[in-house]
Amino acid sequence: MCGIVGYTGLQPAAPILVSGLKKLEYRGYDSSGIAVEQGGSITCVCRAGKIDALEQSLGAFQLTGSCGIGHTRWATHGAPSEANAHPHMSCDGKIAIVHNGIIENHDELRRILEGRGHEFTSQTDSEVIVHLIEDAYASLAFDVSEADDLVDAVGGRVPHQPTVEVRRGEPSLLAQAVNMASSLLIGSWAICAMTEFEPGKIVCARKESPLVVGRGVNGMYISSDMTALSGIAKEVCVLEDGQLAELDERTFDVFKAHDDELIRVTPSMTELDWTVDWMDRGRFSDFMMKEISEQPRVIRDTLEDRFNGSALTVSELGLTHEELNLIDRVYIIACGTSYHASLIAKNLIEGWARIPCEVEVASEFRYRDPIITPSTLVVAVSQSGETADTLAAIRDAKIKGAKVFGITNVIGSPVARESDGVIYTKANKEVAVASTKSFTGQIVSLTLLAMLLAQSKGRLSQGQIRMLFTELVDTASQAEEILKDTEAVNEAAFACKDAHSAMFIGRGMGAAVAEEGALKLKEISYLHAEAYPAGEMKHGPIALIEPGFPVIAVATESPTYDKVLSNIQEAKARGAKIIAVATEGDERIGEFADHVIFIPKVRDALSPITAIIPLQLLAREIAILRGCNIDQPRNLAKSVTVE
Ligand code: AGP
Repeated sequence: MCGIVGYTGLQPAAPILVSGLKKLEYRGYDSSGIAVEQGGSITCVCRAGKIDALEQSLGAFQLTGSCGIGHTRWATHGAPSEANAHPHMSCDGKIAIVHNGIIENHDELRRILEGRGHEFTSQTDSEVIVHLIEDAYASLAFDVSEADDLVDAVGGRVPHQPTVEVRRGEPSLLAQAVNMASSLLIGSWAICAMTEFEPGKIVCARKESPLVVGRGVNGMYISSDMTALSGIAKEVCVLEDGQLAELDERTFDVFKAHDDELIRVTPSMTELDWTVDWMDRGRFSDFMMKEISEQPRVIRDTLEDRFNGSALTVSELGLTHEELNLIDRVYIIACGTSYHASLIAKNLIEGWARIPCEVEVASEFRYRDPIITPSTLVVAVSQSGETADTLAAIRDAKIKGAKVFGITNVIGSPVARESDGVIYTKANKEVAVASTKSFTGQIVSLTLLAMLLAQSKGRLSQGQIRMLFTELVDTASQAEEILKDTEAVNEAAFACKDAHSAMFIGRGMGAAVAEEGALKLKEISYLHAEAYPAGEMKHGPIALIEPGFPVIAVATESPTYDKVLSNIQEAKARGAKIIAVATEGDERIGEFADHVIFIPKVRDALSPITAIIPLQLLAREIAILRGCNIDQPRNLAKSVTVE
């Protein structure tokens, strides 16, 4: 959830680190900091708040050194304060680290380290790492073996230079110390470390938290996310779990930890496309609007080459026709927006393929004992492909013998790598914390999966598949239509902007769309919102309704349209302000709704693809009117890589 950058090379490190951190800010933005080595010592600057605050304060430090590490934080242990911001320093100030992930045994380690004389300056779980490295380094570099001597060593009475020499070709003392420290950790980590004993060197290591090493013209780079390296590194090496990299200004080496030893491995390099700048908002004022506007393209790209005129073709599925045919139960596991996309898929898989389908929040699934047999298909849906709970659920499902299929937006992400097959959603980089275009990519991909299962089971004929696919493609131009005219959305937003709470209702497909609409609204406008299947209203939630209370109804053409209309009237009778998303040509809705946002006519099964767009726009417009930060809402982060 946090972001890591590192640089060692020929140029001043501070501006490179800050620019990298800005590209990673969408991942976490509570506090940030950098550590730069210059003139034989490390200077560390940390600030609470956005990276702008860090950048502004750097002027006073005259940082010209060309080796450094940086971090943008999403707080897990300890408040988002300057003291808890990374980098963390060793007691003697000679080693600095940054960390992503969670150290589960930090309490125990802290107690041991404090017993040995280490002084902690933060409440984070991460700080134990630097103290462990400090001890390990002292034991390796200064030839001290007795515990009491170690206490002396960390007490500042150590020599100025290591007394032990490393043979050429061997991992550095810092690399060995990081490896020793890592072997004591339980949890997940991406760590970057530097020490003034070894100027110009950075060591990084990972377990279950991504790290990428990049080679550029002016030096070597590290990041927890490829995004930060676009435009600066020509080629990258994605570190694998258990690998450790050692960088200097000219090159880097990769090692694999094997027991206590570090064994050199050949890095596998990937060239980066320098022409795409994912952090460019173009003509849009925020990434969310840019991403909402991209949805027609996402639909087209996700469907490209998926139908050969007579059958669906998803070659990367990883399952044969026979294996697909044997599937008798589907679990879809996901979190947040991805979970809402999955709710839509349940209706399609059960409706078209007639296979029982359960949709579960990943954090619940992983701690249950679901019924999984070899004929169970577990589908993991994740934009980022690195959500901790979804990944853990995949691993669990595989151990229990399920076939796992991933639907993700990120090529080569852990979800993609660990699944037996994958459909990529083709949304491309999504930067705004609130998911929009990836939701659309997910629904389209899940619709394809449902059709594929139905095709294999012989439940949908060739003609039906052809017709559905054509209508799926048509949703792209329907989405374009919706995006052309946002006046009705803006008027509805104005009517809701001062509300304290809102309710979203719908039935069938509309119920899942309502869930996603409510999530969008609460996460970016901080307006409390609930979603209910419309029929549930009178079982409790209707008590909330008082004059002026906004009820946002998904009332598109569907088999339950009349029922939704009745529920709207029940709310209206109690004074609710009704905002309805309805199908063009609907002449009844205007009688009951205060604001109607019309969308083109589409088959009920495909309606979520278009019906969600007005709700995304509505949430954004309300958030703008309430003066909220659209792309970086408070307390959130784009990738949730901790449990
Ligand atoms: C939605 O706007 C949120 N950003 C969040 O709910 C998100 O969908 C959730 O954290 C799941 O992320 P994933 O798709 O990357 O797994």
